[in-house]
Amino acid sequence: MINRKYNGFLDVEILNLKFPNPLILAAGILGLTAPLLKRVVYSGAGGVVTKSIGLKSREGYPNPTIVDLGYGLVNSMGLPNPGLKMFIEELEELKGLKVPLILSIYAFSEEELMTMGKIISKLKAVSAVELNVSCPHVGGISEIGKSPELVKSYVKTLKDNLSNKPIIVKLTPNVSDITSIAMAAVNGGADALTAINTVKSMVIDIETGKPLLAGVFGGLSGPAIKPIALRCVYEITETLDVPVFGCGGVETARDVIEFIMAGAVAVQIGSAIARRGLRVFREISIELKRFLELKGFKSLEEVRGLAHRR
Ligand code: SIN
Repeated sequence: MINRKYNGFLDVEILNLKFPNPLILAAGILGLTAPLLKRVVYSGAGGVVTKSIGLKSREGYPNPTIVDLGYGLVNSMGLPNPGLKMFIEELEELKGLKVPLILSIYAFSEEELMTMGKIISKLKAVSAVELNVSCPHVGGISEIGKSPELVKSYVKTLKDNLSNKPIIVKLTPNVSDITSIAMAAVNGGADALTAINTVKSMVIDIETGKPLLAGVFGGLSGPAIKPIALRCVYEITETLDVPVFGCGGVETARDVIEFIMAGAVAVQIGSAIARRGLRVFREISIELKRFLELKGFKSLEEVRGLAHRR
């Protein structure tokens, strides 16, 4: 039985965590320091996911790392982060946060994941872990998310070494059958999934004739990928009874409703913050309530999965 419950108009309980609304900060945007994460919560987010953190620090790629195409962003940051031990200082400041804090992590090996799981088990500020096996352009990570065997094995390793915290696995759309990867994650012990990470892409500088991003390849996010993300959420929830966080191009209440109708339990918001600022959380919440009232729905649960009932 899928582990989620909608109590009121917008509040939602997923994996026994209470989210005051289904609008969650996606990994990668403003998620690297405690003050910024607190600002996102004050701006009305129902939950937050941190930037992906590894066992060791990483500088990431040199500039340029992001290109705004108007219909979406192509980013190629290269997973810059201070490493888990340093990031614990930020997490210490986030104890008592009013909404669930989801720690996004990645690992280059199962040994690294084992060590990380043991450390994270002791972190009180962390409500759940989102395992990033889907960054499309960092070698050693992008390959994991494309292999059902590796996904299952990585998730199982984390499960065996992480006590008392749910595991969410963030999936890549850059595969021919996302459902088989989702199934592998669940078989490995994933409690929930996030669909999707960015779409592998690139931009060419026509003046130089060279790739524009220093990392050559990047990940496309924003409105351009929303139909792909919706299709992925729909395909997964058509087959699996597992909570799925929809992610990819959410900018309006209409987008949220589409994801919930496709079967998502909540959504994650990233690029819209870069495009419209932190006010998106409050604005979308207001629009969402208005939509539910107008259509006579008593909660989001009445909307969830409607697209499957044909
Ligand atoms: C990055 O840091 O380059 C993006 C991370 C991701 O796509 O998962």
